[in-house]
Amino acid sequence: MWLSLFLLLLPPASSTISLRDLQGRFATPDYPQGYPNDMSQTWEIKVPSGYGIQLSFTYIDIEPSANCAYDNVQIQADEALYPPSCGSWTGDWKKFHFPREYHTSGNWMRVTFRSDFSNEERYTGFSAYYTAVDVNECEESNPCSHFCNNHIGGFLCTCRPGYVLQENQRLCGVRCSGEIFTRFKGLITSPNYPEHYAENSKCHYTIRIEQGFQIMLNFTSHFNIERDAFGQCTADVLKITSGQKEYGPFCGNRAPVIRDHLSNVVEIHFSTNGEGEGTGWKIMYSSTAKQCPVEILEHNVLQPKNSDYDYKDSVRVRCESGYELHDNVRNQYIDSAMVHCQKDGTWNSSWYSCRPVDCGNPMALRNGKRNVTSTVYQFLNTYSCDEPYYKLEGNAIFECAATADWVAVGTSDGTLPNCKPVCGRTAISDDTGRVFGGKPARLGYFPWQVRLRTYDGKVGGGALVSDGWILTAAHLFDGSRQTTVHGGIVNLQGLSPEKALPVEDAFLHPNYRPQADGSEPNFEHDVALVKLRARAKLGANLSPVCLPAAGETSPLRAGRLGYITGWGKTEVRDRPIFLQYAEVPVVGMDKCRGLDYRGKRPRFTDNMVCAGQPGTDSCQGDSGGPFVLRDLRHPSRHVVRGIVSFGPQQCGSYGVYTHVGRYLAWIVKTMREHGSWEDEETRA
Ligand code: ARG
Repeated sequence: MWLSLFLLLLPPASSTISLRDLQGRFATPDYPQGYPNDMSQTWEIKVPSGYGIQLSFTYIDIEPSANCAYDNVQIQADEALYPPSCGSWTGDWKKFHFPREYHTSGNWMRVTFRSDFSNEERYTGFSAYYTAVDVNECEESNPCSHFCNNHIGGFLCTCRPGYVLQENQRLCGVRCSGEIFTRFKGLITSPNYPEHYAENSKCHYTIRIEQGFQIMLNFTSHFNIERDAFGQCTADVLKITSGQKEYGPFCGNRAPVIRDHLSNVVEIHFSTNGEGEGTGWKIMYSSTAKQCPVEILEHNVLQPKNSDYDYKDSVRVRCESGYELHDNVRNQYIDSAMVHCQKDGTWNSSWYSCRPVDCGNPMALRNGKRNVTSTVYQFLNTYSCDEPYYKLEGNAIFECAATADWVAVGTSDGTLPNCKPVCGRTAISDDTGRVFGGKPARLGYFPWQVRLRTYDGKVGGGALVSDGWILTAAHLFDGSRQTTVHGGIVNLQGLSPEKALPVEDAFLHPNYRPQADGSEPNFEHDVALVKLRARAKLGANLSPVCLPAAGETSPLRAGRLGYITGWGKTEVRDRPIFLQYAEVPVVGMDKCRGLDYRGKRPRFTDNMVCAGQPGTDSCQGDSGGPFVLRDLRHPSRHVVRGIVSFGPQQCGSYGVYTHVGRYLAWIVKTMREHGSWEDEETRA
């Protein structure tokens, strides 16, 4: 007893063997001989971190005892001390309770063998080997908050998009720190707001505006920060500091209210735990700095275009289309200007203005008027013609466009309208009479009537058919081609020079032949046009007669009445002073054929019209003058259907007139080919 007590007090001989290789073998002392009594042997295995250890016993033979109290082998690893083991391998592992293999996830293992002072039999101990094995850390404990990637000897954490790996290399959080807000007004929200905020994040925001201004914070009502089980703000926390003032911690579902004006610097801290259980918060901050108005000048265009502008903001000012930026100090137009929002909430823009573009005076319209109240952008000019002698053709209303051009309203067309002469107007009512057997006309009855006098002294009439052309008879020019013309008169006495219509040229029908002495009269194609040197100004006393419509070439219906006019011979005077007029009917050509033409036989054709009645006729000196009929479709208009051409020796029954409708094509063509005047710009 004493001895045993003594022996128990004696510590067994002990030693430690360090194993550092990736694999190795070890066995009890003297193996495969019997192990010594009273000993303790420890093997300490260490492999590089990131590896685990697999330990296998290949053979084992240790004195069995209750609870393996006498001799045993004991394993310590992963902070666990396994129960001591003993017993023998009999070649059948199933009968042996000793685990053959151990695995650790840590990189360290300690194996201790102990024997007591006496062995009743001889036991050989054990033999074992170990290898370092890779540990799948990801499967074992998932150390990463998002994704874990195992590799031999370690693992790597990665994060979902939008997250970054934090310093500990395991947790994923969002990058939400360091942001500094320097504008005088703004919006700050938790990451991902109003979706769930990120877990494992520490967010820090700073608002720093210019000194002297104060910051106001305003939480929007949607507020949601996770609380702990006791309703305390320990899970996720929002804290706000400004100078000495501190607000928070805030959590829960009710948005905090901060009524104070804070200093010019505010810090916002928001930290979240591993869960990210909340949808966060939103702060709209404002400041005591005055904002500048969003409109700087009337009609301006700002760049950038913001919904508000704060002190120190700069913006480029231009003017909207149709306006130009004017520098009132330098008194010049500029493309744009940079202006700044000042401390008092105004822009330094007082010397600029957007002025509407000026189209200048619209072009004058011949025989018409402009009517404009202003010549700047979007103002209108309405053209009107001198009614009722001219009628407007084309666009009447023009607008000053952004391009500084006058354009027809709603188009980009700058083509001016035309004031076209109104034809066929007469002041006559039913006051009829006769030329040969006629009555004196009043001014305005036959405003188209003109008087011709050729340079060799021949006199006749003509009819204005536009403001620049006179229709007359070709035979008047048998002698001289040159002629003077007077219009707008009825009284030949004291003809004033301003009633003269200067002539540019005379155009005779190409098939007309002058009357040759001695041969039979041939007044075929007795038609001519006289072009005036300038367009005549039309009015009540001078305005054109209408030309027939195209295709009015058939013989005129007998019985139709028309007016003849002229200063030709009357029953009482060879040269009357006043223009005479009479109404005569169209008659059949046989009436004209049956008269005496000094015994000669003139040629009669379909290009002629016979008109007159006993007692009423045209006569010498009326040649070239018109025979006008009322336009059946427009009864207020008169159309020239005949030209006084020739007649029998004795006036007073019937006369022959050129059938104007047969020459319309030549008339129109001649007027068009020669129808431009030097002082006029040619228009399309
Ligand atoms: N050839 C004449 C002249 O030169 C016109 C004669 C008209 N005669 C007549 N009976 N209608 O004036």
